[in-house]
Amino acid sequence: MKNYLSFAIVLFSLLAFPQFAYSSSDQTVLITGANRGIGLEYAKQFLAKGYKVIGTARKPATATELKKSGAEVLQLDVTDEKSVADLKAALKGRAIDILINNAGYFDRQDVTLDKVDFNTFARTLDINTLGPLRVTQALIGNLEKGQRKTVISMSSGLGSIEKSTGRWYAYRTSKTGLNQINKILSTEYKDQGFIFTVVHPGWVQTDMGGSNATYTPTQSVQGLIKVIEGLTTKDSGQFYDLNGKSIPW
Ligand SMILES: NC(=O)c1ccc[n+]([C@@H]2O[C@H](COP(=O)([O-])OP(=O)(O)OC[C@H]3O[C@@H](n4cnc5c(N)ncnc54)[C@H](OP(=O)(O)O)[C@@H]3O)[C@@H](O)[C@H]2O)c1
Repeated sequence: MKNYLSFAIVLFSLLAFPQFAYSSSDQTVLITGANRGIGLEYAKQFLAKGYKVIGTARKPATATELKKSGAEVLQLDVTDEKSVADLKAALKGRAIDILINNAGYFDRQDVTLDKVDFNTFARTLDINTLGPLRVTQALIGNLEKGQRKTVISMSSGLGSIEKSTGRWYAYRTSKTGLNQINKILSTEYKDQGFIFTVVHPGWVQTDMGGSNATYTPTQSVQGLIKVIEGLTTKDSGQFYDLNGKSIPW
């Protein structure tokens, strides 16, 4: 009876607090665009928590801070199919527990219709919408081998149609599209233990967010990692902010 009770308590704890079901030291996180901004901060904080980190950069030679952090650094341009295929080959057979599709691009010129530039629009979609899908497609086999089977894609509150206040045709549309892709993936992999979740990091002080932004990268990523470590399969297909609050589509 006592044994059954202990077993029930352990089982309940693991279900209620999934973060305790895993030891971070035998888990690998892969972060795209990890050479600066939020991606670099993710790398540092996951390393500090004992995870193995693979950080990708378009130009590893100049990713000085990422290399200094202790992360394994691999080359990746999320718009370049050869680069994605090379990453897949380099990681053949290795388990990845958490993939963070972080690489992103925001050109702020298209505030009004006359400022929409279609080449810039296509580039934004290529990086922000197709990039995460390309990387997820290439690494799905590695994620299948992982314990957590978690794919986090960095969306934005600007991708919410319900909350849209206009401006920035390309960036907003790219993140709305990313949200839809995330939902489709969560549906396709529903019965296989995967978690596909889109998150909004808040307005963050990076090259993209600018110095007037609300959060430092440290604050934003602290919140995001807490959210990520607490995710269960029930959170697959959802859209959360850095405090774990749902954002309307
Ligand atoms: N900062 C914010 O306030 C905010 C708010 C909402 C959402 N987000 C999202 O959070 C993510 C990170 O943003 P951030 O503020 O850290 O941006 P950031 O400072 O501008 O950094 C962007 C990162 O993405 C990489 N990148 C750009 N194009 C790439 C490509 N084609 N292939 C691979 N990597 C590429 C950059 O690499 P290079 O150094 O080589 O250019 C850089 O590492 C983005 O997805 C962004 O949309 C940010």
